[in-house]
Amino acid sequence: MKLLHIDSSITGEHSVSRTVSKAIVEALTAGDASVEVSTLDLAANPLPHLTLDVLGNPDGSDELNQFLASDVIVIGAGLYNFTIPSQLKAWIDRILVAGKTFQYTAEGPVGLAGDKKVFVALARGGFYGEGQPAAAFEHGETYLRAALGFIGITNPTFVLAEGIAIDQATREAAVAKALEEAKALTVAA
Ligand SMILES: Cc1cc2nc3c(=O)[nH]c(=O)nc-3n(C[C@H](O)[C@H](O)[C@H](O)COP(=O)(O)O)c2cc1C
Repeated sequence: MKLLHIDSSITGEHSVSRTVSKAIVEALTAGDASVEVSTLDLAANPLPHLTLDVLGNPDGSDELNQFLASDVIVIGAGLYNFTIPSQLKAWIDRILVAGKTFQYTAEGPVGLAGDKKVFVALARGGFYGEGQPAAAFEHGETYLRAALGFIGITNPTFVLAEGIAIDQATREAAVAKALEEAKALTVAA
């Protein structure tokens, strides 16, 4: 099994999403020495914005080829200005490629990457759950679910850490809860 571990937070060792994505990878690889893990740190090694050259040559895209070769993808992201970090968006722009990960048909678009399992560690400063006043401003989880669903990954697993910016106690409780959830994950989850 090939596992791709992607991080996109800019906050280094203070990053909640990095802490949780690492715990997810540890849980998924525990006791299985056959798992091959590749890492992609999009903050340390940012991808440029998509260009027409890159769009026109998907076979030459290292990121697309790495994604296509992976069975499991673990993504760490913070909610930045109500959506995913632009570093992660630049990666998504290389992954959603007509003819590779989706195709248009007479019946509409069809995803071609449905054989992959995706886990997302998403950290948010505030609260965006159902009924919260800011719920409609959440375009991180909703965006990733839409983008992944479009290429056939219709059931990603999200581990959320919410209220990170509220106060220290709320942050600690959210991280502890997310780490508990992460620990219990298996590839089949
Ligand atoms: C540039 C920036 C923008 C942010 N924007 C939001 C936001 O729109 N909504 C929110 O709830 N939290 C926001 N936050 C707080 C982060 O979501 C929170 O700190 C989270 O833990 C970030 O993930 P990380 O710890 O992995 O970096 C923002 C943080 C930063 C650094």
